[in-house]
Amino acid sequence: MSNVSITSPNTAAQIGPLRSVIALAYAESPHLLHVLHALQQQFLHISDHALHEVAAHLDIPISQVDAVVEFYSFLHKTPRGRFDILFSNCTSCGYMADGVDLLDMLARRLGFVAGNTRADGLVSIDQTSCIGMCDHGAALLVNGVPIVRLDAGKIANIAALVEAQTPLADWPAAWFQVDDNIRVGGLLLNDELAAGDSLSAMLARGAADTLSEIIQSGLRGRGGAGFSTGMKWRFCREAQGETHYVVCNADEGEPGTFKDRILLHSHADSVFEGMTVCAFAVKAKEGYLYLRGEYRYLLPQLQAVLARRREFGLLGENILGHPGFDFDIEIVAGAGAYICGEESALIESLEGKRGIPRVRPPFPVTHGYLGQPTVVNNVETFVAAAHIALRGSAWLRAAGTEQSAGSKILSVSGDCAAPGIYEYPFGVTIRQVLDDCGATDVQAVQVGGPSGTLIGSAEFNRRLGFDDLPTGGSLMVFGQARDLLAVIVNFAHFFAHESCGFCTPCRVGTALLSNGLDKIAGGHGTRYDLDEMQRMAALVRRRSHCGLGQTAANTILDGLQRFPQAFERRLVSGAFEPHFDLDAALEEARQITHRDDAAAHLNQA
Ligand SMILES: Cc1cc2nc3c(=O)[nH]c(=O)nc-3n(C[C@H](O)[C@H](O)[C@H](O)COP(=O)(O)O)c2cc1C
Ligand code: SF4
Repeated sequence: MSNVSITSPNTAAQIGPLRSVIALAYAESPHLLHVLHALQQQFLHISDHALHEVAAHLDIPISQVDAVVEFYSFLHKTPRGRFDILFSNCTSCGYMADGVDLLDMLARRLGFVAGNTRADGLVSIDQTSCIGMCDHGAALLVNGVPIVRLDAGKIANIAALVEAQTPLADWPAAWFQVDDNIRVGGLLLNDELAAGDSLSAMLARGAADTLSEIIQSGLRGRGGAGFSTGMKWRFCREAQGETHYVVCNADEGEPGTFKDRILLHSHADSVFEGMTVCAFAVKAKEGYLYLRGEYRYLLPQLQAVLARRREFGLLGENILGHPGFDFDIEIVAGAGAYICGEESALIESLEGKRGIPRVRPPFPVTHGYLGQPTVVNNVETFVAAAHIALRGSAWLRAAGTEQSAGSKILSVSGDCAAPGIYEYPFGVTIRQVLDDCGATDVQAVQVGGPSGTLIGSAEFNRRLGFDDLPTGGSLMVFGQARDLLAVIVNFAHFFAHESCGFCTPCRVGTALLSNGLDKIAGGHGTRYDLDEMQRMAALVRRRSHCGLGQTAANTILDGLQRFPQAFERRLVSGAFEPHFDLDAALEEARQITHRDDAAAHLNQA
């Protein structure tokens, strides 16, 4: 964290507008991230004065506000451009499209270096972690709104619109069209629930029996870890506390994962219905949907669904006329931090803090939001629970496998003809998915995102599910033409960037792994570097505090084991090669002195 140096507010002209934005935002939602987002939007940064005013209005320490602004990548202490453009750097929806660097292209057209705000304050260009548009080709966010299917032509048009200062509302509407791309539907996607049906069925059955149904169904969390949903709810119900909370984890930050985007877009009623079923089962009165900042564009329609549910008596007091069944849901949007998908970091974030994972135990079911018993479940888990409340446990059990009841919704992206959403009963083979999405000549598949498992063709008969290959829902396909090392480097950069910095093995380890891979990819690596990397990867996995660090080296280790040639063909022959390239480091000096002759190069001198 930086040193906090806060100057006192001085003029009424500066403070008046700040105070009114803060007051307005706070009246909508008292959550710190909401207030800070409003300030960021209005003033393009969070000034020292703003920190001061927020702290005073929310009655929290300035150091806390400052730490939060420093932590989240969508909050800034120096002004961003009026057009704030963030290119996804994911391997599936990233800015490298058909070998063309679209980010660099836009920056050149606009006449400044990416990673900055242009001197006239009109535009900023930067990169950001995956924005969940992997089924739409290269994508960016402009002032928080996604533009998809980027190509060179679109980049030229964007540059012109920015220069002309054309308001976003007047940009071509088709650019902002985000489709669901449902290719194969199953248990959840084919059968729409009517709003309120699951709640009626649950009220008829009673809370205890509904809980039993959820347990008997074998439903396991769809966010990745696969804990029994029914047992989680039971622990929470039985935990002592003044109040209980239900939290929906809609952070979906794992690169290559976008299935929750579709559920939130087209099945939001079912998500909220599942949360309400949970609330009744665990005796909660308040719920939160923690929406990743990259999906903020979905907020208006999600708010509309909530408003409609309140109108129909599906939220609020005495739900469906049932005395004492009171529950409501608030949406809190994140601000660009993958770690906030980890449930305890998410809770910290909800509490207006940095997203640093807590020491567990105690677990959220007993000590969660504000120290109270809290259920945190994935979006898809709540949808499945809503279905079970209506259709019973046998309905889920009828599909899937012994260990993995029901279906899994997959986000499929990468080198295939039809990227999009595929829902299958658990137990489906990788090969089946590849056939269905039109993936031919496949070199490797990344199952479960960068924190998951990288497999090659010898393992395409393996089955998705907790019995064999678990996944939070992402499947990235890499064809034979792909440079697998570049993919692994991209993932390593992602983890180094997203490490929250709390514990040394992850903070330092992910940076060292990332640097080591850069060295190898740059043609300077040796066998010694590979051995070091293997050692470091094992250490990061074993010694890290939370799931991010514990899985950050998965792809490196999988790659070394299954695709050693991807690394080995880049190695230099000697036993040791320094990481630092002195000749490259002298490039700037050569440019300043206008020299590029042989004598100005170390290796040619
Ligand atoms: C670094 C990290 C990121 C995570 N991101 C998500 C996420 O975006 N969505 C999610 O549901 N679970 C995510 N999880 C898992 C959550 O911690 C938690 O297990 C999950 O929300 C529980 O819900 P479930 O039981 O329904 O799966 C993440 C875990 C880690 C370690
Ligand atoms: S493992 Fe990484 S992300 Fe997790 S607490 Fe440690 S530094 Fe933070």
